[in-house]
Amino acid sequence: MIAEHMSCIKQSASSVVSARATELKQQGKDVISLSAGEPDFPTPQHVQLAGIRAIVEGKTKYPPIPGIMPLREAVCRKLARENALAYTPDQVIAGAGAKQVIFNALAVTLNPGDEVIVPAPYFGCYVEETALCKGVPVVVETTQEEGFRLDPQRLEAAITPRTKWLILNNPNNPSGAVLGLGHLKGIAEVLRRHPQVWVLSDDIYEHLIFDGKAFHSILEAAPDLKDRTLVVNGFSKTFCMTGWRLGYGAGPQLLIKNMTKYQSQATSGANQVAQWAGVAALDGDMGFAVRQRAIFQERRDLVMKLIGQVPGLKAEKPEGAFYVYVSCAGLIGKKTPDGAVLSTDPEVATYLLYEGVAMVPGEAFGLSPFFRVSFATDAKTLEEACRRIAAACAKLK
Ligand SMILES: Cc1ncc(COP(=O)(O)O)c(C=O)c1O
Repeated sequence: MIAEHMSCIKQSASSVVSARATELKQQGKDVISLSAGEPDFPTPQHVQLAGIRAIVEGKTKYPPIPGIMPLREAVCRKLARENALAYTPDQVIAGAGAKQVIFNALAVTLNPGDEVIVPAPYFGCYVEETALCKGVPVVVETTQEEGFRLDPQRLEAAITPRTKWLILNNPNNPSGAVLGLGHLKGIAEVLRRHPQVWVLSDDIYEHLIFDGKAFHSILEAAPDLKDRTLVVNGFSKTFCMTGWRLGYGAGPQLLIKNMTKYQSQATSGANQVAQWAGVAALDGDMGFAVRQRAIFQERRDLVMKLIGQVPGLKAEKPEGAFYVYVSCAGLIGKKTPDGAVLSTDPEVATYLLYEGVAMVPGEAFGLSPFFRVSFATDAKTLEEACRRIAAACAKLK
């Protein structure tokens, strides 16, 4: 009954780990979950109120498929103001999260066998959605030593006549790596030699860059790539709106038109109440985002300090997002108190789970042996989690 390709598709890893942690908690085990990819802050109040107002005013009917005009206009204002990018509303589509926007784009562009280049470590949905759309994910690894930044030469070596997309995620989930202007220019130089390759730029962590550094988009580095770039962004991370399910894409009109056609048969327009809240979010004061960023930065520094003290673990300081991608190469081959040998990062993550901390193993992000620590939780919990991780590692022989 179930289609063959489903046997190759994985359930989202963070949802699996979160569910496992919840199950253990229900059985009475004390587990701290550092697996979630969502801020622990509430949706800003002015955004909440805009959503409530939309409900009360009866803005609860089917919205237009690509999104209500005020939202698409607000997206254009945002892209002009923050990214110096000129788009018109007919070049914008809203979807049920950035995830759906990415899926729509892949679904309307991939013919069977078309290739999508995904630098690893990656957000798992890029690879799974590509496979769901009958495309072929081509993974290009980065290394901890090079700060998990895509090497332009390795990118070029991976391009073939079948390459349709390069997916760039800047800042990156799970590594927190941020691509600077120089680096983006290097990537653009390669892309100029391969006009068949489009860029999907997932900028969802754009407002979460630390140490006073600025965000640079691929289109700032290479405006000439605009007619083959889809900019993807959303409300989940910056505006703490994971449950509202709203994201958007901006790109060439033909692409957006086809994504709209696809969405018209798949899910229709995104939640209208969320869209009105989205207008308030994009047009509103961003002071809360500055405060949240400062808190995230303190937490990052805390986790870096505590993880850095654990023999066997090694972490590169993330410049953005809210994750630390920790190498556990130093634990591989060690024995647990039960005598089991840890030979992969899922085994390390399972061991740490039973020691009281749930995290997603690197396998889920295409680069091993690592695990991802999400620091989207308060400092006290992070301290206790890192204490447990250190104690668990100390028990290994
Ligand atoms: C890099 C990246 N892109 C997209 C998403 C999905 O965002 P949304 O909630 O808007 O679907 C996530 C969520 O974890 C993410 O990490």
